[in-house]
Amino acid sequence: VRALLLGFGNVGRRLAEILVRRQEHPGLADLDVSVVGIVTARHGAAFDPSGLDLAAVLAAGRLPEQGSALAAARDLDYDVLVEMTPLDVAARGEPAISHVRAALERDRHAISCNKGPLAWAYRPLRDLARRQGRAFRHEATVMDGAPVFNLAEHGLRGNVILRLEGILNSTSNLVIGELERGSSLEAAVERARAAGVAEADPSLDLDGWDAAVKVAALANVLLDADLTPERVERERVADLRPERLRAAAARGLRTKMVCEVVRGEGGEVAARVRSREVPPGDPFSLVEGTGSILRIVTDILGTIALAEEHPDLSTTAYGVISDLYAIRDPQWAP
Ligand SMILES: NC(=O)c1ccc[n+]([C@@H]2O[C@H](COP(=O)([O-])OP(=O)(O)OC[C@H]3O[C@@H](n4cnc5c(N)ncnc54)[C@H](OP(=O)(O)O)[C@@H]3O)[C@@H](O)[C@H]2O)c1
Repeated sequence: VRALLLGFGNVGRRLAEILVRRQEHPGLADLDVSVVGIVTARHGAAFDPSGLDLAAVLAAGRLPEQGSALAAARDLDYDVLVEMTPLDVAARGEPAISHVRAALERDRHAISCNKGPLAWAYRPLRDLARRQGRAFRHEATVMDGAPVFNLAEHGLRGNVILRLEGILNSTSNLVIGELERGSSLEAAVERARAAGVAEADPSLDLDGWDAAVKVAALANVLLDADLTPERVERERVADLRPERLRAAAARGLRTKMVCEVVRGEGGEVAARVRSREVPPGDPFSLVEGTGSILRIVTDILGTIALAEEHPDLSTTAYGVISDLYAIRDPQWAP
């Protein structure tokens, strides 16, 4: 598989590190990936049609060439584009949407780690991929690389998904946990930053935007909705009253910010992000730190849950690797 990487930050570098140290992971022995191009925003670009030396690329502080991501997506010769640029909520998922579209329009496969294309343009991109007979895959977008979409694709066939509920934003979960223990909001955010979970500007997480984007992505892919994050009802962590959290904790209840997608009686899909008091014994009460959980309610199989503990960058990079396998072995592709 000849891959073009758009973005080479945390996830891209970890993916490259795993590929370079492939012999440490015997399960990857049969995965033959050659990276023919890497484009960043401010750290240059690198191209080699016969495959870049990833160890040398990782060792270099800056990449030697210049190039725009969209131009590379349109002009370079590759089999699969891997979109790993940051989510831009204000730009409603661009430029990632254009990157993915450019690849599919040229009969190339696309993998996105960026949630934007799923949250703002899933239907048109999915339909374009189907028309072109190419794959549009996105396992790393929700719950890092945990097999959310693979599970639905291969493990839930024949079911209708009726409802999804999840704890999907680590910063909110960590901050609420600290508030329950009596911290101020500022101290709680500082602790989430010190743990390497919160961004320098955590407002996307604390205002519920990151969760709303994930919920729209899940609704669009798994319940065939046509939602955008703007239509997801959001509750802000800053609006939770600490005394209410502490009173609930004193009664043995944990407060969690829960993402929900619900199919109504008439088939319409609604999504929201809102706090919920969770009793002990509910697996949601056990999700701490960077962990996450997704409960899936179906018509035949009933209710199952997928939980992820202590994800790291390798978890996310694995999401890309699982998509590369799916593309290489087309019987697994949609
Ligand atoms: N980190 C995680 O664990 C995780 C988990 C799940 C999903 N994701 C998603 O995966 C994606 C990548 O995350 P990350 O943590 O690797 O982000 P990151 O460390 O911020 O890296 C982003 C990379 O994209 C490049 N970039 C930005 N705008 C670009 C553009 N217009 N054209 C080309 N390159 C551009 C940046 O270039 P410069 O370096 O030059 O700025 C950088 O190399 C994001 O969408 C994120 O939401 C991340």
